[in-house]
Amino acid sequence: MVNLAILISGRGSNMIAILDGIKNKYILNVNKVLVISNKRESIGLHLAKDRYGINTELIMNDNLSNNEFDEKIVHILKSYDIKPRNGLVCLAGFMKILSPYIVNMYKNRIINIHPSLLPSFKGLHAQKQALDAGVKISGCTVHFVDNAVDTGPIILQECVPVFDTDTELVLSERILIEEHKIYKKAINLFTNDKLKIENNKVSLK
Ligand code: GRF
Repeated sequence: MVNLAILISGRGSNMIAILDGIKNKYILNVNKVLVISNKRESIGLHLAKDRYGINTELIMNDNLSNNEFDEKIVHILKSYDIKPRNGLVCLAGFMKILSPYIVNMYKNRIINIHPSLLPSFKGLHAQKQALDAGVKISGCTVHFVDNAVDTGPIILQECVPVFDTDTELVLSERILIEEHKIYKKAINLFTNDKLKIENNKVSLK
């Protein structure tokens, strides 16, 4: 059984997809869940607590160095028994880059969802980058987190068409629908111990 932490900063639609996936038994082998936000105004944080009755923690980074912030996160994770041997940390719209301190400690146990077909369009505004590049297909990626931004081993991807008439918002919404599906699927693969990483590549066991 895996203990899950979901780290968010905003509305938390991926978090909701994950929590629904656990509730509906689409995602199996999850023992407990904690939601952490670094933003007080995060809608997802309130939803997790009020709608799902999930444990939540607010850890604001405003007056902390990167290291102090990550040390605080690790402290909270461990206090909820989300440890490197039994935990999975899911970044879901978490707008803060984690330092090597936590990434190395939870090696291959932190995953992220990104709204492009990596390795294209890393970083912020991936959907706008895709539109600006004029690509005809974009999509989303779930990947393990390593010590660079959006570069870790890829677990799952899904593609969507890009139309001439698309705005950033329209494309983002089309991609988001697929994000919710592949994030749940990737987590379930992880919690069922189906993923193998070799030479920076993920395959199914
Ligand atoms: C998603 O598009 C995700 O891919 C990106 O940030 C957005 C978060 O959306 N990393 P939400 O908070 O899950 O609704």
